[in-house]
Amino acid sequence: MRFSKKVALVTGAGSGIGRATAARMVSEGAVVVGSDISSSGLDETAGIISSSGLDETTGIINDAAAFYPVVSDVRSREACHELVDSTVTEHGHLDVLCNIAGVAGCHRVGDVDQSTWDQIMGVNVSGVFWMSQAALPHLESSGGCIVNMASNAGQIGQAYTVPYCASKAAVILITKAMAMETIRTPVRINAVAPGGVETNLVASFEFPADPDMELMGRYMGFRGMAQAGDIASAVAYLASDEAHRIHGAVLSVDAGLTAG
Ligand SMILES: NC(=O)c1ccc[n+]([C@@H]2O[C@H](COP(=O)([O-])OP(=O)(O)OC[C@H]3O[C@@H](n4cnc5c(N)ncnc54)[C@H](O)[C@@H]3O)[C@@H](O)[C@H]2O)c1
Repeated sequence: MRFSKKVALVTGAGSGIGRATAARMVSEGAVVVGSDISSSGLDETAGIISSSGLDETTGIINDAAAFYPVVSDVRSREACHELVDSTVTEHGHLDVLCNIAGVAGCHRVGDVDQSTWDQIMGVNVSGVFWMSQAALPHLESSGGCIVNMASNAGQIGQAYTVPYCASKAAVILITKAMAMETIRTPVRINAVAPGGVETNLVASFEFPADPDMELMGRYMGFRGMAQAGDIASAVAYLASDEAHRIHGAVLSVDAGLTAG
């Protein structure tokens, strides 16, 4: 029960890694406010959390009353501040912020249009920044932490995903720069960098016509895809007191994809 009496805000909780993280934190005792732009995704998450009952590994009963879904768009500064403020008003404090909402896409450089670029930067970069900006004063009061969702794509260059790579590299430097700015406070800020994970994000990838498969093969790794729960475990570790000396770090969870 690492999150007993803790209040966590998880963006992107309507699918994939955000959903698995919300479920994991509820199962370990947190009150979780799960936000997403998709209300149907949040309904599904709420259903999973309330119906999963006894977790045989942990022996903990998931608590439907501990998940609070909120439809919100991380691209908007105003919406992010409203979400954080309403969380603190309704639940008393904020201990953990997990910035997990994200979008991706495969495009050749020449095919990236204005709306694609703005969408990827808006969700992946602005979303992380606005949520963190809004949360920091509350996390300073509670001695809380932020876990951002980066990617192996923010650590090595990948063909056909230049905007996504740029956005995830920005997540890594937001993490490190905010870690420096908050270094004299009790707040901890870290990131997880997964390799490929079986989620809707990957299932919806459309490769550009006639891709260079030799290039694409470099980013697949040797050990197959992770499950969302594998990444949620790493997020939960960084968000827990067990990681109390970890600040400004990027934890790769990519089965060696970026090792060499
Ligand atoms: N799946 C992978 O292989 C992989 C690898 C590395 C990093 N990641 C990162 O993990 C995070 C979660 O991705 P996932 O694979 O679970 O994808 P997913 O598509 O399953 O979930 C992403 C969620 O973000 C939500 N979202 C999109 N735009 C939003 C907005 N404007 N405001 C609020 N919510 C919004 C979506 O509705 C969705 O529920 C992303 O940041 C992604 O870049 C994923």
